[in-house]
Amino acid sequence: MRRILLVGFGGMGHVHYENMKRIPDAQIVGIAGTEHDRKAAEETGLPFFLSITECVKSLSVDTVDITTPTFLHKSHVLEAMDAGCDAICEKPLALSSSDAEEIYRKAEEKGRKVYLALVMRYTKEFSILSSLIKDEKYGKLLKADFHRLSPMPEWTHGSWLFDKNKSGLIPFDLHIHDLDMIYALFGEPVDVQSYAPVDRQSGFPCYYSIDYHYRNLSVHAEAGWLRTSMPFTSGWRLIFEDAVAINNDGAIYVYPYKSDKIDLTPVYDTVISTGINVPPTGWYYEELKHIISEMNGQEKVRISKDEAIGVLRIAEKL
Ligand SMILES: NC(=O)c1ccc[n+]([C@@H]2O[C@H](COP(=O)([O-])OP(=O)(O)OC[C@H]3O[C@@H](n4cnc5c(N)ncnc54)[C@H](O)[C@@H]3O)[C@@H](O)[C@H]2O)c1
Repeated sequence: MRRILLVGFGGMGHVHYENMKRIPDAQIVGIAGTEHDRKAAEETGLPFFLSITECVKSLSVDTVDITTPTFLHKSHVLEAMDAGCDAICEKPLALSSSDAEEIYRKAEEKGRKVYLALVMRYTKEFSILSSLIKDEKYGKLLKADFHRLSPMPEWTHGSWLFDKNKSGLIPFDLHIHDLDMIYALFGEPVDVQSYAPVDRQSGFPCYYSIDYHYRNLSVHAEAGWLRTSMPFTSGWRLIFEDAVAINNDGAIYVYPYKSDKIDLTPVYDTVISTGINVPPTGWYYEELKHIISEMNGQEKVRISKDEAIGVLRIAEKL
Protein backbone atom coordinates (compact mmCIF):
# COMPACT_ATOMS: atom_id res chain seq x y z
CA MET A 1 0.00 0.00 0.00
CA ARG A 2 1.49 3.36 -1.02
CA ARG A 3 1.05 6.07 1.63
CA ILE A 4 0.59 9.27 -0.33
CA LEU A 5 0.86 12.97 0.39
CA LEU A 6 -1.18 14.92 -2.16
CA VAL A 7 0.35 18.33 -2.87
CA GLY A 8 -1.90 21.03 -4.34
CA PHE A 9 -5.67 20.85 -3.99
CA GLY A 10 -6.87 22.84 -6.99
CA GLY A 11 -8.35 21.45 -10.21
CA MET A 12 -5.98 18.51 -10.67
CA GLY A 13 -5.52 17.98 -6.94
CA HIS A 14 -9.23 17.16 -6.69
CA VAL A 15 -8.99 14.89 -9.73
CA HIS A 16 -6.09 12.94 -8.17
CA TYR A 17 -7.92 12.80 -4.82
CA GLU A 18 -11.15 11.39 -6.32
CA ASN A 19 -9.27 8.81 -8.40
CA MET A 20 -6.67 7.72 -5.83
CA LYS A 21 -9.52 7.05 -3.36
CA ARG A 22 -10.71 4.25 -5.64
CA ILE A 23 -7.30 2.62 -6.24
CA PRO A 24 -6.85 -0.38 -3.91
CA ASP A 25 -3.05 -0.05 -3.41
CA ALA A 26 -3.09 3.71 -2.80
CA GLN A 27 -3.98 5.68 0.31
CA ILE A 28 -3.82 9.47 0.51
CA VAL A 29 -2.83 10.17 4.13
CA GLY A 30 -2.44 13.95 3.99
CA ILE A 31 -2.86 17.02 1.79
CA ALA A 32 -0.38 19.90 1.45
CA GLY A 33 -1.20 23.21 -0.14
CA THR A 34 -1.54 26.92 0.44
CA GLU A 35 -3.90 28.57 2.97
CA HIS A 36 -6.34 28.87 0.05
CA ASP A 37 -6.65 25.05 0.05
CA ARG A 38 -7.01 24.55 3.81
CA LYS A 39 -10.83 24.54 4.06
CA ALA A 40 -11.44 22.16 1.14
CA ALA A 41 -8.60 19.89 2.27
CA GLU A 42 -9.81 19.73 5.88
CA GLU A 43 -13.33 18.88 4.67
CA THR A 44 -11.90 15.58 3.42
CA GLY A 45 -11.04 14.69 7.02
CA LEU A 46 -7.34 14.35 6.19
CA PRO A 47 -4.58 16.29 7.97
CA PHE A 48 -3.53 19.45 6.13
CA PHE A 49 0.03 20.84 5.85
CA LEU A 50 1.69 23.91 4.42
CA SER A 51 4.88 22.04 3.55
CA ILE A 52 5.87 18.70 2.09
CA THR A 53 8.78 18.23 4.50
CA GLU A 54 6.61 18.96 7.53
CA CYS A 55 4.01 16.40 6.44
CA VAL A 56 6.52 13.66 5.63
CA LYS A 57 8.07 14.20 9.09
CA SER A 58 4.72 13.81 10.88
CA LEU A 59 3.09 11.04 8.86
CA SER A 60 4.64 7.92 7.47
CA VAL A 61 4.60 8.85 3.77
CA ASP A 62 6.44 7.06 0.94
CA THR A 63 4.96 8.85 -2.09
CA VAL A 64 4.38 12.53 -2.85
CA ASP A 65 1.80 13.22 -5.56
CA ILE A 66 2.39 16.70 -7.02
CA THR A 67 -0.46 18.67 -8.62
CA THR A 68 0.84 22.19 -8.04
CA PRO A 69 1.26 24.85 -10.76
CA THR A 70 3.93 23.84 -13.25
CA PHE A 71 6.65 26.30 -12.15
CA LEU A 72 6.68 24.58 -8.72
CA HIS A 73 7.07 21.02 -10.01
CA LYS A 74 10.86 20.96 -9.95
CA SER A 75 11.23 22.30 -6.41
CA HIS A 76 8.40 20.09 -5.12
CA VAL A 77 9.80 16.92 -6.72
CA LEU A 78 13.24 17.72 -5.27
CA GLU A 79 11.74 18.43 -1.84
CA ALA A 80 9.81 15.14 -1.94
CA MET A 81 12.98 13.19 -2.81
CA ASP A 82 15.00 15.03 -0.12
CA ALA A 83 12.34 13.90 2.35
CA GLY A 84 12.98 10.30 1.25
CA CYS A 85 9.91 9.80 -0.97
CA ASP A 86 9.22 8.81 -4.57
CA ALA A 87 7.27 11.40 -6.57
CA ILE A 88 4.34 11.34 -8.96
CA CYS A 89 4.29 14.62 -10.88
CA GLU A 90 1.55 16.14 -13.04
CA LYS A 91 2.59 17.17 -16.52
CA PRO A 92 4.83 18.77 -17.57
CA LEU A 93 7.64 17.57 -15.32
CA ALA A 94 9.42 20.93 -15.61
CA LEU A 95 9.61 24.07 -17.71
CA SER A 96 12.86 23.09 -19.45
CA SER A 97 14.62 19.92 -20.52
CA SER A 98 17.64 20.90 -18.41
CA ASP A 99 15.47 21.08 -15.28
CA ALA A 100 14.00 17.66 -16.12
CA GLU A 101 17.53 16.27 -16.57
CA GLU A 102 18.48 17.66 -13.17
CA ILE A 103 15.41 16.03 -11.57
CA TYR A 104 16.31 12.59 -12.97
CA ARG A 105 19.99 13.05 -12.04
CA LYS A 106 19.03 13.86 -8.44
CA ALA A 107 16.59 10.93 -8.36
CA GLU A 108 19.40 8.58 -9.37
CA GLU A 109 21.77 10.05 -6.76
CA LYS A 110 19.16 9.65 -4.04
CA GLY A 111 17.88 6.26 -5.18
CA ARG A 112 14.37 7.63 -5.65
CA LYS A 113 11.89 7.38 -8.54
CA VAL A 114 9.87 9.99 -10.43
CA TYR A 115 6.67 9.07 -12.28
CA LEU A 116 5.26 11.50 -14.81
CA ALA A 117 1.47 11.79 -14.97
CA LEU A 118 0.95 12.53 -18.66
CA VAL A 119 -2.53 11.14 -18.96
CA MET A 120 -3.07 10.44 -22.65
CA ARG A 121 -0.38 7.75 -22.75
CA TYR A 122 -2.34 5.69 -20.22
CA THR A 123 -5.65 5.86 -22.09
CA LYS A 124 -7.37 3.18 -24.13
CA GLU A 125 -7.56 5.73 -26.96
CA PHE A 126 -3.75 5.81 -27.09
CA SER A 127 -3.53 1.99 -27.12
CA ILE A 128 -5.93 1.92 -30.08
CA LEU A 129 -3.99 4.66 -31.88
CA SER A 130 -0.72 2.87 -31.29
CA SER A 131 -2.04 -0.54 -32.48
CA LEU A 132 -3.61 0.95 -35.61
CA ILE A 133 -0.22 2.33 -36.60
CA LYS A 134 2.00 -0.57 -35.51
CA ASP A 135 -0.18 -3.40 -36.87
CA GLU A 136 -0.24 -1.90 -40.39
CA LYS A 137 -3.57 -3.70 -40.94
CA TYR A 138 -4.64 -0.85 -43.23
CA GLY A 139 -1.25 -0.37 -44.85
CA LYS A 140 1.28 2.29 -44.15
CA LEU A 141 0.41 5.47 -42.33
CA LEU A 142 0.64 8.45 -44.72
CA LYS A 143 -0.46 11.31 -42.49
CA ALA A 144 -1.42 11.89 -38.85
CA ASP A 145 -3.28 14.93 -37.51
CA PHE A 146 -3.83 15.76 -33.84
CA HIS A 147 -5.90 18.56 -32.36
CA ARG A 148 -6.59 19.91 -28.88
CA LEU A 149 -8.66 23.09 -28.78
CA SER A 150 -9.98 24.63 -25.59
CA PRO A 151 -12.03 27.68 -24.76
CA MET A 152 -9.77 30.22 -23.01
CA PRO A 153 -9.05 28.57 -19.61
CA GLU A 154 -9.82 31.64 -17.50
CA TRP A 155 -10.91 29.54 -14.51
CA THR A 156 -7.44 28.68 -13.07
CA HIS A 157 -6.68 30.06 -9.62
CA GLY A 158 -4.23 33.02 -9.60
CA SER A 159 -3.88 33.06 -13.46
CA TRP A 160 -0.45 31.38 -13.34
CA LEU A 161 -1.48 29.59 -16.54
CA PHE A 162 -1.16 32.78 -18.61
CA ASP A 163 2.37 33.53 -17.37
CA LYS A 164 5.01 31.98 -19.65
CA ASN A 165 7.47 31.63 -16.74
CA LYS A 166 4.91 29.72 -14.70
CA SER A 167 3.15 27.42 -17.18
CA GLY A 168 5.24 27.55 -20.37
CA LEU A 169 1.91 28.45 -22.09
CA ILE A 170 0.37 26.27 -24.82
CA PRO A 171 3.42 24.19 -25.89
CA PHE A 172 4.13 23.01 -22.31
CA ASP A 173 0.61 23.02 -20.96
CA LEU A 174 -1.88 21.94 -23.64
CA HIS A 175 0.04 20.68 -26.65
CA ILE A 176 2.34 18.56 -24.43
CA HIS A 177 -0.37 15.84 -24.45
CA ASP A 178 -0.24 15.47 -28.25
CA LEU A 179 3.51 16.06 -28.41
CA ASP A 180 4.01 13.23 -25.92
CA MET A 181 1.91 10.85 -28.04
CA ILE A 182 3.65 11.96 -31.24
CA TYR A 183 7.09 11.46 -29.65
CA ALA A 184 6.15 8.04 -28.27
CA LEU A 185 4.77 6.89 -31.63
CA PHE A 186 7.21 8.38 -34.10
CA GLY A 187 10.31 9.46 -32.16
CA GLU A 188 12.46 12.50 -32.82
CA PRO A 189 11.24 14.49 -35.84
CA VAL A 190 13.71 15.50 -38.56
CA ASP A 191 12.32 19.03 -38.49
CA VAL A 192 9.62 21.00 -36.67
CA GLN A 193 7.86 24.10 -37.97
CA SER A 194 5.27 26.02 -36.09
CA TYR A 195 2.89 28.83 -36.96
CA ALA A 196 1.91 30.66 -33.77
CA PRO A 197 0.79 34.27 -34.22
CA VAL A 198 0.83 36.44 -31.10
CA ASP A 199 -2.71 37.12 -29.92
CA ARG A 200 -3.40 40.88 -29.71
CA GLN A 201 -5.40 40.65 -26.46
CA SER A 202 -3.28 38.25 -24.37
CA GLY A 203 0.13 39.16 -25.83
CA PHE A 204 1.17 35.54 -26.43
CA PRO A 205 0.29 32.93 -29.08
CA CYS A 206 -3.09 31.38 -28.37
CA TYR A 207 -3.18 29.16 -31.44
CA TYR A 208 -0.46 26.82 -32.73
CA SER A 209 -0.34 24.95 -36.01
CA ILE A 210 2.69 22.65 -35.91
CA ASP A 211 4.26 20.43 -38.57
CA TYR A 212 6.44 17.56 -37.43
CA HIS A 213 8.45 16.24 -40.37
CA TYR A 214 9.56 12.63 -40.47
CA ARG A 215 11.04 10.63 -43.30
CA ASN A 216 8.00 9.30 -45.25
CA LEU A 217 5.47 10.73 -42.82
CA SER A 218 3.88 14.07 -42.15
CA VAL A 219 2.39 14.79 -38.73
CA HIS A 220 0.40 17.91 -38.02
CA ALA A 221 -0.93 19.20 -34.71
CA GLU A 222 -3.18 22.08 -33.68
CA ALA A 223 -3.48 23.47 -30.16
CA GLY A 224 -5.35 26.50 -28.94
CA TRP A 225 -6.84 28.42 -26.07
CA LEU A 226 -9.52 30.15 -28.06
CA ARG A 227 -11.97 32.95 -27.39
CA THR A 228 -14.96 30.87 -28.34
CA SER A 229 -18.08 29.27 -26.88
CA MET A 230 -17.09 26.00 -28.59
CA PRO A 231 -16.61 23.23 -25.99
CA PHE A 232 -13.19 21.62 -25.47
CA THR A 233 -12.37 19.19 -28.26
CA SER A 234 -9.48 16.82 -28.90
CA GLY A 235 -8.70 13.92 -31.17
CA TRP A 236 -6.75 12.65 -34.14
CA ARG A 237 -7.13 11.50 -37.73
CA LEU A 238 -4.92 8.90 -39.39
CA ILE A 239 -4.72 8.47 -43.15
CA PHE A 240 -3.54 4.99 -44.08
CA GLU A 241 -3.06 3.52 -47.56
CA ASP A 242 -6.33 1.55 -47.17
CA ALA A 243 -8.38 3.31 -44.49
CA VAL A 244 -8.97 6.49 -42.55
CA ALA A 245 -9.25 6.34 -38.73
CA ILE A 246 -10.79 9.19 -36.76
CA ASN A 247 -10.96 9.90 -33.04
CA ASN A 248 -13.36 12.73 -32.21
CA ASP A 249 -13.47 13.31 -28.45
CA GLY A 250 -13.09 9.59 -27.72
CA ALA A 251 -15.45 8.27 -30.44
CA ILE A 252 -13.14 6.23 -32.66
CA TYR A 253 -14.12 4.94 -36.10
CA VAL A 254 -12.11 3.27 -38.82
CA TYR A 255 -13.37 3.69 -42.38
CA PRO A 256 -11.68 0.95 -44.45
CA TYR A 257 -11.61 0.92 -48.24
CA LYS A 258 -14.81 -0.66 -49.67
CA SER A 259 -16.17 -1.88 -46.34
CA ASP A 260 -18.33 -0.59 -43.52
CA LYS A 261 -16.99 1.63 -40.79
CA ILE A 262 -15.69 -0.10 -37.67
CA ASP A 263 -16.51 1.30 -34.23
CA LEU A 264 -13.45 1.13 -31.93
CA THR A 265 -14.78 3.56 -29.31
CA PRO A 266 -13.34 2.42 -25.98
CA VAL A 267 -15.44 1.80 -22.89
CA TYR A 268 -14.12 2.45 -19.38
CA ASP A 269 -15.36 0.41 -16.41
CA THR A 270 -14.58 3.18 -13.91
CA VAL A 271 -15.71 6.67 -14.93
CA ILE A 272 -15.19 9.54 -12.51
CA SER A 273 -16.27 13.20 -12.61
CA THR A 274 -13.35 15.61 -12.94
CA GLY A 275 -14.60 19.05 -11.84
CA ILE A 276 -12.27 20.50 -14.52
CA ASN A 277 -13.01 21.14 -18.19
CA VAL A 278 -12.88 17.42 -18.96
CA PRO A 279 -16.17 15.46 -18.88
CA PRO A 280 -16.44 12.42 -16.55
CA THR A 281 -13.78 9.98 -17.69
CA GLY A 282 -11.83 6.83 -16.92
CA TRP A 283 -8.54 8.39 -18.11
CA TYR A 284 -7.16 9.53 -14.77
CA TYR A 285 -8.17 6.33 -13.00
CA GLU A 286 -6.32 4.25 -15.63
CA GLU A 287 -3.32 6.57 -15.39
CA LEU A 288 -2.98 6.65 -11.61
CA LYS A 289 -3.78 2.94 -11.20
CA HIS A 290 -1.05 2.14 -13.71
CA ILE A 291 1.46 4.45 -12.02
CA ILE A 292 0.77 2.83 -8.63
CA SER A 293 1.36 -0.58 -10.27
CA GLU A 294 4.59 0.77 -11.79
CA MET A 295 5.67 1.86 -8.31
CA ASN A 296 4.91 -1.59 -6.95
CA GLY A 297 6.94 -3.22 -9.75
CA GLN A 298 3.80 -4.85 -11.25
CA GLU A 299 3.91 -2.83 -14.50
CA LYS A 300 6.70 -1.50 -16.71
CA VAL A 301 7.27 2.25 -16.38
CA ARG A 302 5.32 3.72 -19.28
CA ILE A 303 6.89 7.17 -19.63
CA SER A 304 10.66 6.87 -19.72
CA LYS A 305 13.17 9.47 -18.63
CA ASP A 306 14.25 9.96 -22.27
CA GLU A 307 10.65 10.57 -23.35
CA ALA A 308 9.95 12.98 -20.48
CA ILE A 309 13.06 14.99 -21.38
CA GLY A 310 12.65 14.61 -25.17
CA VAL A 311 9.19 16.21 -25.28
CA LEU A 312 10.42 19.18 -23.26
CA ARG A 313 13.35 19.64 -25.66
CA ILE A 314 10.86 19.90 -28.53
CA ALA A 315 8.40 22.12 -26.60
CA GLU A 316 11.28 24.56 -26.04
CA LYS A 317 11.55 25.05 -29.82
CA LEU A 318 7.88 25.89 -30.42
N1 LIG B 1 -3.32 16.04 -16.93
C1 LIG B 1 -4.26 16.93 -17.12
O1 LIG B 1 -5.25 16.66 -17.83
C2 LIG B 1 -4.14 18.27 -16.48
C3 LIG B 1 -5.23 19.17 -16.50
C4 LIG B 1 -5.08 20.38 -15.83
C5 LIG B 1 -3.89 20.69 -15.19
N2 LIG B 1 -2.85 19.80 -15.22
C6 LIG B 1 -1.57 20.12 -14.53
O2 LIG B 1 -1.80 20.12 -13.13
C7 LIG B 1 -1.04 21.11 -12.49
C8 LIG B 1 -1.97 21.96 -11.63
O3 LIG B 1 -2.95 22.56 -12.45
P1 LIG B 1 -4.37 22.98 -11.84
O4 LIG B 1 -5.21 23.33 -13.01
O5 LIG B 1 -4.84 21.99 -10.87
O6 LIG B 1 -3.98 24.33 -11.08
P2 LIG B 1 -4.79 25.05 -9.88
O7 LIG B 1 -4.32 26.45 -9.89
O8 LIG B 1 -6.23 24.73 -10.00
O9 LIG B 1 -4.26 24.28 -8.57
C9 LIG B 1 -2.95 24.41 -8.09
C10 LIG B 1 -2.96 24.05 -6.61
O10 LIG B 1 -1.63 24.13 -6.10
C11 LIG B 1 -1.65 24.88 -4.87
N3 LIG B 1 -0.36 25.51 -4.63
C12 LIG B 1 0.13 26.66 -5.14
N4 LIG B 1 1.35 26.93 -4.63
C13 LIG B 1 1.63 25.92 -3.77
C14 LIG B 1 2.73 25.63 -2.92
N5 LIG B 1 3.80 26.43 -2.88
N6 LIG B 1 2.66 24.51 -2.16
C15 LIG B 1 1.60 23.69 -2.19
N7 LIG B 1 0.53 23.93 -2.98
C16 LIG B 1 0.55 25.02 -3.75
C17 LIG B 1 -2.78 25.88 -5.07
O11 LIG B 1 -3.22 26.41 -3.85
C18 LIG B 1 -3.81 25.00 -5.76
O12 LIG B 1 -4.50 24.22 -4.82
C19 LIG B 1 -0.34 21.90 -13.59
O13 LIG B 1 1.00 21.51 -13.68
C20 LIG B 1 -1.08 21.52 -14.87
O14 LIG B 1 -0.23 21.48 -16.01
C21 LIG B 1 -2.97 18.60 -15.82
